[in-house]
Amino acid sequence: MTVPDTAAQSLVERLRDVATHGMVPAKIFNDPAVYDLEVERLFSKAWNFLAHESEVPKAGDYVVRSIANNSILVARDEAGEIQVHLNMCRHRGNQMCKADLGNASHFRCSYHGWVYKNSGELVAVPYHKQAFGDELDKKQWGLVPVKTAMYEGLIFGSLDPDVEPLEDFLGGFQFYLDYYLKTGAEGVEVYGPPDIWESRCDWKLYAENGSGDGYHTPVTHQFGFHLGYFASSGATHSIGHSVHFPDKGHGIGLGETPGMDPFLGYPPEIIDVLKERLTPEQLAVFEPVRTAVGMAFPNLSFLSQPFSPIPGEPGIRFVTMRQVRALSAGTMQMSSWCLVPKGASEEYREAAYSAYTLAFGPGGMFEQDDMENWNNITQQLKGSVVREMDFPYVSGLKQEPVSDYPGPGVALRPYMNDSNFRNLWSTWAKYLTDKE
Ligand SMILES: [Fe+2]
Repeated sequence: MTVPDTAAQSLVERLRDVATHGMVPAKIFNDPAVYDLEVERLFSKAWNFLAHESEVPKAGDYVVRSIANNSILVARDEAGEIQVHLNMCRHRGNQMCKADLGNASHFRCSYHGWVYKNSGELVAVPYHKQAFGDELDKKQWGLVPVKTAMYEGLIFGSLDPDVEPLEDFLGGFQFYLDYYLKTGAEGVEVYGPPDIWESRCDWKLYAENGSGDGYHTPVTHQFGFHLGYFASSGATHSIGHSVHFPDKGHGIGLGETPGMDPFLGYPPEIIDVLKERLTPEQLAVFEPVRTAVGMAFPNLSFLSQPFSPIPGEPGIRFVTMRQVRALSAGTMQMSSWCLVPKGASEEYREAAYSAYTLAFGPGGMFEQDDMENWNNITQQLKGSVVREMDFPYVSGLKQEPVSDYPGPGVALRPYMNDSNFRNLWSTWAKYLTDKE
């Protein structure tokens, strides 16, 4: 591990108590020393989302993903098992598989030609006898495995062999993930490969927004209300809850519209599945929810909302899952999927994908609004004066949690407050100051 930068270390230390003081310094953004801490102490220690199992449905299917600055190969082997390895030839460290996705039983390094099965075993070394004699035991030099765990079709990986079980890491946030993942009797699947784009934006700005920023919607996306794309109005927009999981970092914003039909925007057959698969407590939380935007710490977010592609008409509900990856201090890569229930009608799937693309694809009208703000903030925070400033995350600071809320986590009303963000920052700081 590199020697931690002490200025960055003491900067991050201040965020451990953000739940008390509510101040976030501009300097945590765009800082190479903070980025190094994020790579070594957060992304290399946490569980990281890698892929949805529906992205590799058949033997030989693979996708190439990343954990921080490490390339990761996720493949379904010939026996049908999910295999996750560092995407690196064990001989000289070359990137093993250079395509984003495909189907292959074996991978061959482009440098000296070592060949591995998709299950990771090294099976062929060119000129083995001439070059190595008996000095290379192929069994010792397979691809490096990555620890994995799954929840409802989501494949997670961790680079830390001592990481806590995924179940504990999610720590009850599964209650909210189910809302996005149990819409089909057999779960969900991706609608095609992810949209992927890069941006001059610090990944943490997205992490914050994805944790449930109900406050920005009536301003950033105000035209959506005016033109009738949303099933809500600016006047009622603040109604609902924000929920966070202390020390876990997860947070979700649940916007509600009074008098709205339960699960507005889903066809009846999907609502029937939700009523079958969700618990009474989950139904009590989710039936009134119009918009649910939540982040599984540190960087996997979900959004469910009805959207009307033809303004004023009854909307269609879509779900998008997105992962934001830090590429460097102040730059990020977004991967964005549309999730649809397995077995849903083609009519619904296409309508949901169309709504997702128009709203939150890389050219989506609301995605563009957001990205413009985040890119601007990232550049602005580099200013010599701005860099020394703190920003107030004090909304809801003195508020008591809702006592009769039926779900897990700490819930505050209304949908607009900073409690999820304070928890995000204090959890982030906990990881970054952990000396282990
Ligand atoms: Fe937004």
